[in-house]
Parts: sequence; structure tokens; C-alpha cells
Amino acid sequence: MKKLNVALLQILYLPIFICSYSAVNAQTYGKNGMVVSDNVLASEVGIDILKKGGNAINASIATAFALAVTHPEAGNVGGGGFIVLMKSDGEVTTFDFREKAPLKATPDLFQDSNGNLIEGSNHETIKAVGVPGTVAGLYLAHQKYGSLPWADLVQPAVNLAGNGFPMTWGLYQVALRMSEMDESYDIMKNYFRNDEGLVIQPGEIWKQQALANTLSLIRDHGHNGFYLGPVAEEIEAYMKAKGGIITKEDLAKYNAIERKPLKGTYKDFEIYSMPPPSSGGVALIEMMNLMELADLNKIEFNSTAYVHLVGEAMKRAFADRAEHLGDPDFNPDLPLDRLLSKEFAKKRFDNIDMTKASLSDSSKYGQLYDGSSTTHFSVVDKDGNAVSLTYTLEHSYGVKMGSSKLGFIFNNEMGDFNPVAGVTNSRGQIGSNPNLIAPEKRMLSSMTPTIVAKDGKPYLIIGSPGGRTIINTVFQTVLNVLEYDMRIDKAIEAMKIHHQWLPDEIRYERHLMSPDTRYALELMGHKLRPVNNLGVLMGITYDPRLKVYVGGADSASKDGAAVGY
Ligand code: GLY
Repeated sequence: MKKLNVALLQILYLPIFICSYSAVNAQTYGKNGMVVSDNVLASEVGIDILKKGGNAINASIATAFALAVTHPEAGNVGGGGFIVLMKSDGEVTTFDFREKAPLKATPDLFQDSNGNLIEGSNHETIKAVGVPGTVAGLYLAHQKYGSLPWADLVQPAVNLAGNGFPMTWGLYQVALRMSEMDESYDIMKNYFRNDEGLVIQPGEIWKQQALANTLSLIRDHGHNGFYLGPVAEEIEAYMKAKGGIITKEDLAKYNAIERKPLKGTYKDFEIYSMPPPSSGGVALIEMMNLMELADLNKIEFNSTAYVHLVGEAMKRAFADRAEHLGDPDFNPDLPLDRLLSKEFAKKRFDNIDMTKASLSDSSKYGQLYDGSSTTHFSVVDKDGNAVSLTYTLEHSYGVKMGSSKLGFIFNNEMGDFNPVAGVTNSRGQIGSNPNLIAPEKRMLSSMTPTIVAKDGKPYLIIGSPGGRTIINTVFQTVLNVLEYDMRIDKAIEAMKIHHQWLPDEIRYERHLMSPDTRYALELMGHKLRPVNNLGVLMGITYDPRLKVYVGGADSASKDGAAVGY
């Protein structure tokens, strides 16, 4: 009987999977709407909601919950994130559901008795968990702008978790690794195993009953289904048992916030992105302002001069990020107007030497944090409402701990705070004040969900995972579309580099930069480090000639897809 059910489910899901393989990494057209996410099933869930008459916020909520089931390395209910929403009337708003430090957190939480950072403690221990924000953020967005009933948006995720879905090769690679983790990563041991205790094989149906139960409580009770009642009780009990510090009070006090977006311009385009506690919007707009000052007609795309200029822009934006940014609710005087101004960009631009690399000086400021397991999706509906949503567990599968009774994994976002006041070093540990740990403070993020508008309508919806590299991969993709008029899939796949000021090096995509360019950059004084890939971008552009949305899912995604209708 069990075998028969499995076979039946596989047949049911077959069309989706055939579709997934053709959709991944291809550009996709949608006259009425589009969802581009890191998992084809989650994109399909979002499209179903659009087809039922839901708006982009409804589809985003459903997609986010579906990703918590189908893309658990970053899709989540145990983490946090940001939404940028552009409504069809041209108004733009954002939702901040970044995790918060628990009430018991202290500035020296991750230090030894000499005041030094205990290596790894801010990412690999139960104290690295921030108070999750995802459910609160999605619920607030629904209260403000949702049109379909909340329960209808959570139900598809309950179905995916309870009925299961076929294990993909992409997930299986990670499942093998995670299933071998030691006992301290309690939940991971059995996360990907079937009733016989065997790792689920590709094509076999993977069910997550505990997660389905948690999602059912969220479906039935909204925000309170997570932050009060049995889920909150179990989170507190689990934390107590493991030596964590999150309590029911932390959960009851958690609030998501609607914030004004940051706005910049590039030529005729308007750029809307996330304000602090994300650093993404500030750095993106600063870099676009710098690039606007360059005569890009005279600098060939991907030439040595181009990579040098882009790298120098990155260094400057990341130095400013490290020095100035943190949670605005704890830093009322963040110099946002100055950092975003065209005059400030001019000063920054004027000291770029086009013949040699500038030096990053750790006695000033820099940046280290590296959370690669974030996920981004972009959504647009038939009325032109657009959502750019990035959310995260910080590392892949977050802290890799969680209660098996609840079935979800906690973030390790506390590692995004500056761990030791005053200590900034060439490895990139930052010690500036705005991002030190304090109870109920939100840690600085690099997530950069962005919407670019032309003539008051969404023109580009874009974002990526990748820790600090997010800012730079989004920046280069935005530049590729706005300045070089690249098709969205080409803009996503084009070579990217990453410089974050400290460490003082350009990371580049190993198989995409020509060896001649690399050599010429080294002669200019740049240090170069190869990496396999930068970014997993999920984007939508509008083609005004065809009057159609065009979606592109990064080929670096394991199971992602653009789905349009
Ligand atoms: N977790 C990555 C970030 O927020 O930047």
C-alpha cells in the first residue's frame, strides 16, 4: 500500500518535475505573472495563488512557506528576512523581519575571559540563534496587503510537508552530508531519513510530519501560532535543554516592522531597496552612484579597467558599511542621507586611481560576515504589484539544530553582530559600535532585495543569497540590466566579482574571468582569489516592447525555476 502511494505521488508530481528541468536556468515569459525561486515546487505554489486571484504578497507568503519545506537549507520559519513591495499604484514599502538578539544577550556573549572572540561560538553554538522573524514578517505583510485568506496561503506548505514530495538530486547531495553530522546537530541526523532510518533516495517521497504540524498551527493561528502556545513552549523547552537563551518572553515580544524603502536613481531608473538593519540597499545605491560617474562607453564590459573600477567601488561601499551601519532602532543617527547622496559618491569616485589598486586599511573599517544560506525570490502579479523577498537561516541549514518535535531548523544569525568592540582586523572581523550585540537589537544584514522601476512601474525585481557577496552580485546584475541592457538570464549568468574591503582581495568566478585580465589586475596591485560561483540570483525584468515579464533563475540553483503564466 505504501509503495502504491509513493508511485501515485510520483506520477502526480511528474509533470512538475519534467517542467522543472526545462525551466531551470531558461528565461521564462509570463504575461500575467511570474514567480522565480530556488525551488520549482515553491514557484508553482506561488503561481497557483496568482491564478486563484491572489496578489504578489499572497503569492510571496505561499512561496515562502513552501520553500521552508522544499528548500530547507535557507527557506525557513526559524530565520528572518526582508520584503520590498512595489504596489501597482507605484507606492513602495518594505517589511523588516530580521531576527533579534534575545533579551539575555550581552555584548560579550561570544568572548572568552580575555575579551577575545571564541572562534566559531557566534555561528556554531545554540547561543548563535536569533529570535526568528519570518512568521511575524509574512503575517504582517498579509495583514497590510494580503487579499486571500491566510490559511489558504499556508495550506500548500502543510500539504508539501505532510504528503511529501520527491527527493531531488540537488537536495540529496546535501542530505547525504547532513545525515552524517555528529550528535550535537540533533535534528540533522534524522532530518532526511525515512521510517526505516535510511537516507531518502532521489525520487523517493520525503515527508516532514513534525513540520506539517507546526505549519498547521501557523495556518490556524497566524502570528500567534508560532510566537505563543505550543510552538513557543517547545522552543523555550528546547533552548533550556540545550543551554540556549531564547525564552517565551523573547518570542512574545518579537515584532516585524514596516519601514520606508531606500530610494536611489541610476540615469532614468529608480532603485528601491532595503534600509538598515540591512546594509544591502545603502551599499547598492552608493555603488550605483559611483558607476553613474564613470564613462562606461569607454570601458569595455569585463575588461581589466571594468573589473578594477567595480572592485574599487565595492571596497569603498564595504568600508562605509562596516563603519556606519547597524540596527536603526538602536542607532538613530545613521548617516543614510550622506551615504546615499550623489555628492558623497563624487568624493568617493574622485579618489579612485584607474592605474592601481587602493589598499584596504584594517585600522579603519572592513567586513567579515559570511552567511551563504539565504534564498531570494521575485514575484510579480497581473496588476503589476511586485515583491522582492530575501530570507535566511544565515549558514546552510542555519545552526543545524532544532527540536525534532517542531521539525524546523534554527538560524545562526547572531554571528552577524560585531563580536568584539573595537577589534577590526585584516581578516575582516569588525568592531564598530553600530552593530555590537544588545538585547532586542537586529544584527546587520547584507540581504539586498531590490526593485528597479522605470516610469513608476517595476522594471527589474532581483535579489540573491550569498552573505556579503549578495550586495555585489545584486549590484552587478542591476548594472548589467540597466547599463548594458542585458536580458535577465544573461545578466544573472555574466561573470561576477566580489570585494568586501577586508580581506583585501577580489574573488572572481574561476571559469569566467580571462587569465589575461587576471594577470593585468595583479600587475595593478590587486590580489585575486578564485571561487566556483558567486550568487544564486532570481530575477524578473519587464519587456516594454512585448509587454511581458521575463524571468531568470540562476544556473547555480539546485532546484530553482522561473515559472510564468
Ligand atoms: N544571513 C546573511 C545576511 O543577512 O547578510
